Amino acid sequence: MAEQTKKNFYVTTPIYYASGNIHIGHTYCCTCSDVIARYKRLRGYDVRFMTGSDEHGQKIQGKALEAGVTPQEYVDKIAESFKEVWKAMDISYDYYVRTTDKSHVECVKKVFTKLLSQGDIYLGQYKGWYCTFCESFFTDEQVGEQHLCPDCHRPVHAETEDAYFLNVKKYVPALLKFYEEKPSFSQKDKINEMINTFIKPGLEDLCITRTSFDWGIPINEDPKHVVYVWIDALLNYVSALGYTTEDDSLMQKFWSDDSEIIHLIGRDITRFHTIYWPILLMALGLRQPDKVIVHGLLLTRSGVKLSKSLGNAPSPYPLIERYGVASLRYYLVREIQFTTDGNFTPMQFVDRLNADLANNYGNLVNRTLSMINRYFEGVIPTADLYNPKSELTKKLLEDVKAKIVAYEAYMDKFDITGGIGAAMDLVDLGNKYFDAIAPWTQAKNGNMDLLSESLYAASELIRIGSILLCPAIPNKSKEALDQENVPEEMRTYESISTYNSLCSRHINELTALFPRLKKEEEVKFLTELIDGPAK
Ligand code: MSP
Repeated sequence: MAEQTKKNFYVTTPIYYASGNIHIGHTYCCTCSDVIARYKRLRGYDVRFMTGSDEHGQKIQGKALEAGVTPQEYVDKIAESFKEVWKAMDISYDYYVRTTDKSHVECVKKVFTKLLSQGDIYLGQYKGWYCTFCESFFTDEQVGEQHLCPDCHRPVHAETEDAYFLNVKKYVPALLKFYEEKPSFSQKDKINEMINTFIKPGLEDLCITRTSFDWGIPINEDPKHVVYVWIDALLNYVSALGYTTEDDSLMQKFWSDDSEIIHLIGRDITRFHTIYWPILLMALGLRQPDKVIVHGLLLTRSGVKLSKSLGNAPSPYPLIERYGVASLRYYLVREIQFTTDGNFTPMQFVDRLNADLANNYGNLVNRTLSMINRYFEGVIPTADLYNPKSELTKKLLEDVKAKIVAYEAYMDKFDITGGIGAAMDLVDLGNKYFDAIAPWTQAKNGNMDLLSESLYAASELIRIGSILLCPAIPNKSKEALDQENVPEEMRTYESISTYNSLCSRHINELTALFPRLKKEEEVKFLTELIDGPAK
């Protein structure tokens, strides 16, 4: 294993609009970010993992009005409900930022003042095409002849108003140079798409204030203007670290050159994170993030984006209640290829959980520990895996090493689908090994040496596999390690390349980790959850 020096690692999710409930499409990004944060912690990094809510804007003001409460009351309730979902999803964030936090509001005001005074912001008049749904203005080229929003494809309307602008044009050459010098900043195809769709046709200066509504951050210099959503929202990544406040120690630590900075976002908000965010950082004289990882979207069976407004996106709660949080997390990470779109389909959901969690991981834990109970009265037998007796065991340990190398390589380049897949392949090696050795036959023939060695090797495989799977399914991998009575010091990443410490340990009571799902029943349940009951 490569030596790791302890380093700071900052990972963020987008902040979610506080305009409705979290659905499973939203849980995707938080789960993927959580897997990355947990993996980095496992590898000894000092991790800061941040999520939060985006609480200003016309749409939210309208929703509050509809509900008969103040916007603040409205977003307070929503933010609480978001935190509850993340708790139920086992999301291990270190800090939850809200754009209505006092420190965030102050930060946005100060940034505005700074940029205005250095000439990067000016007052002008905006004439453009506005999409109420995306809260974004677009140019003639972007909306085309049909006047449709290029992001959500809804109709846009013409609007003119006094507004402050961020002088982005000035930064375009520097942005292009940055893309060239740092090709690892984001996926190549995404950057090319940004250049061709937005930069080459001529990037307009960005309208950053509005006067037609007041649920936003008023600027000190001209308080009838409130800062328009995207600048407000993007600044969360630094306001959450105390940027512009008296105590900016977290900023010094996690937004410094000693830190790796990763933003995870869905592909529909690529423009804001790969064009305007780097420009804003340049204007502020702050360093750039190492990576903006653009992930795909969860689509329905027929390829439509799961979304609040279309009403086709289930809440995560019924899935967590019925299958457990680990199953939902695992499905999201493993079935949907990270960085490409993926379809959420009932059949694939059930098949994936049965194949990987019930028949592979759950089965290895269950059969190994049951046999330790049956043949060794619950005590893990003694064996020396540094000097395996059987060729099959020797081969198994070589294959395990290769899987660990693959896991690390995938996870280090943030390919979590590949990484968790490699961990599951490692578990599969254990089941295949079992089938080849057939410990029950060894027991019948009185071949106690081979019986001990095979059960011992399988116990180690459960331990190693559980550690590798831990970022994806933390509660269940802990349950497996608890059932096996693995001591804390043998649950670390460093311990995965050492053997023999489990000899003679008494295992704990066994319970099935993942019951096998009845396909027809579950497909019916899931289909009704997405489409409503069959008519
Ligand atoms: N508030 C902005 C983000 C500001 S970040 C500085 C926003 N909010 S959102 O609630 O609309 O979306 C938050 C994230 O959820 C986005 O990354 C978006 O891509 C993601 N998803 C929304 N629906 C999704 C799917 N169906 N599938 C995967 N991710 C989805 O945009």
